[in-house]
Amino acid sequence: MELRDRVVVVTGASSGIGRETVRAFAERGAVVVAVARREALLRSLIDEVRSLSPRSEYLAGDLGERAFAEGVVERTAQHHGRLDILVNNAALPKHKHIEHTSPDEAQRVLEVNTLACVWMTLAALPHMRRRGQGCVVNVTSVAGEIVPPRESLYAASKAALAAFTEGLWSDLAGSGVHAALVVPGAIDTEIWEKLDEPAAFRGRKAPPRIVADAIVASVLKRRHRVTVPRSIGVSVARFLHLFLPGLLRFGMRRMDPMRKEAP
Ligand SMILES: NC(=O)c1ccc[n+]([C@@H]2O[C@H](COP(=O)([O-])OP(=O)(O)OC[C@H]3O[C@@H](n4cnc5c(N)ncnc54)[C@H](OP(=O)(O)O)[C@@H]3O)[C@@H](O)[C@H]2O)c1
Repeated sequence: MELRDRVVVVTGASSGIGRETVRAFAERGAVVVAVARREALLRSLIDEVRSLSPRSEYLAGDLGERAFAEGVVERTAQHHGRLDILVNNAALPKHKHIEHTSPDEAQRVLEVNTLACVWMTLAALPHMRRRGQGCVVNVTSVAGEIVPPRESLYAASKAALAAFTEGLWSDLAGSGVHAALVVPGAIDTEIWEKLDEPAAFRGRKAPPRIVADAIVASVLKRRHRVTVPRSIGVSVARFLHLFLPGLLRFGMRRMDPMRKEAP
């Protein structure tokens, strides 16, 4: 797919991976609609990319509100006459012991991280199907496959999004509309400053640009699933998950030991 003048919605564009993804598409001449809640950050991003992509713009709002999420798609298709690529990247972290987590928090994580992506995809598909082309990129997480301590809800939200994307591979086969799953490992963004409880992870974090480039490549090369960065640690964890799950559970418990007594 040639990206010049293609219309791309990128959610979670005010920081981290989403912000870099807006830059990456704008550099290739795409028209980007940047979405998040923090309007000042979106405005400064759009000012920055204006010389590369004069028709790019932002829409500020809460994707946990279904009317806003669907409205972003409809407004984009109406205003720009098309919607070629939807990047569902926005998410909330939820690094919190399950005994400290409330039902309202659980609902919010699943609404923002999973349902908003589903709502936007459902709204976008008719526009893409009419043109016989398009691409939905869903950003999940290695944590959705190899679940660290205190990440049950976050992992559940990402695992559900991954399964949804895999379903699209079958349902959209032959339609010209592609669905891609981009699975980041540890990336150096502000998401790590938003954790409710301290993270046990002490490893290296990769720069967000490599995920942005992987998102663009997943569109251009119609890739189905990309993990970024590639790492031996993730490969070993996936191997253990499949073939030695007891050993993986033991390692996870050692990583962040939990107290045994009831709350
Ligand atoms: N960084 C990592 O290590 C890592 C690892 C695996 C997967 N990921 C995934 O990568 C994606 C991007 O994360 P990141 O690391 O770039 O984190 P980030 O810097 O915290 O970015 C998250 C983005 O989502 C937006 N957002 C959150 N809640 C929203 C809401 N209710 N409505 C609209 N926008 C909302 C935030 O903007 P506002 O606050 O302005 O709304 C922000 O732009 C996420 O899906 C994350 O789960 C990240």
